[in-house]
Amino acid sequence: MRKKIVAGNWKMNKSRDEACDFFNLIQKSFLPEEVQLMVFPSALYLTEAVGIVNNKVIIGAQNCHFETKGAFTGEISSSMIASVGANAVIVGHSERRNLFNETNTMLAKKASDVVQSGLTLIFCCGEMLHERENQQHFKVVEEQLKNGLFHLSLEQFAKVIIAYEPVWAIGTGKTASASDAQDMHCFIRSLLSQIHPSVAHQTSILYGGSCTPANAKELFKQPDIDGGLIGGASLNVSDFLAIANSF
Ligand code: PGA
Repeated sequence: MRKKIVAGNWKMNKSRDEACDFFNLIQKSFLPEEVQLMVFPSALYLTEAVGIVNNKVIIGAQNCHFETKGAFTGEISSSMIASVGANAVIVGHSERRNLFNETNTMLAKKASDVVQSGLTLIFCCGEMLHERENQQHFKVVEEQLKNGLFHLSLEQFAKVIIAYEPVWAIGTGKTASASDAQDMHCFIRSLLSQIHPSVAHQTSILYGGSCTPANAKELFKQPDIDGGLIGGASLNVSDFLAIANSF
């Protein structure tokens, strides 16, 4: 059975006090039982977040380095993330790919490192606008997955969640239509079945890109959409919970 998941990617937002207020509110709220919530705050607040939500919500980091330790000024390793009780890492977000020049080769190393540390991996993929306009979106996503993720073992895939996030939909207010998103999710699942049918059956595939309480229901109704990776709308507790209640 695939898990239903709603994950909030806060990016570089919220002060420590604002983050704690959010988590205290979440902790007091009624959460839908059949949906796994995940939140990815600034790495600075991982310890506080883990302490407040106490397993009700999975807490993770937005990025990590692929080495365990060493002379990498400013970087954080997945084992450090695990050591503060966080349980997940996002790898391959388009902002990391495009603003910080992260390549598929680098992302493949990060993906291995995250699962080797026993953490859940959210691996992001998605095409740019010109790639969709040139009908290259399936090819681009296939390359991102084959070069960045598909080297993991069958056992390691148990820790993998995929997020399809068309770059043109991120933070723009333009959402992919439910049927375009479904087509891509179905395509990704068919690629997963080439690894092993069990991987296709078990891997949750999330949609990301201007997902809001207004459009989540329609998206989550699609047979291959198992939830969302939410940016802007995850900063507000009531919007985030409204999305979690959209299945
Ligand atoms: P958005 O961001 O919901 O603000 O479009 C999604 C993401 O970047 O994960």
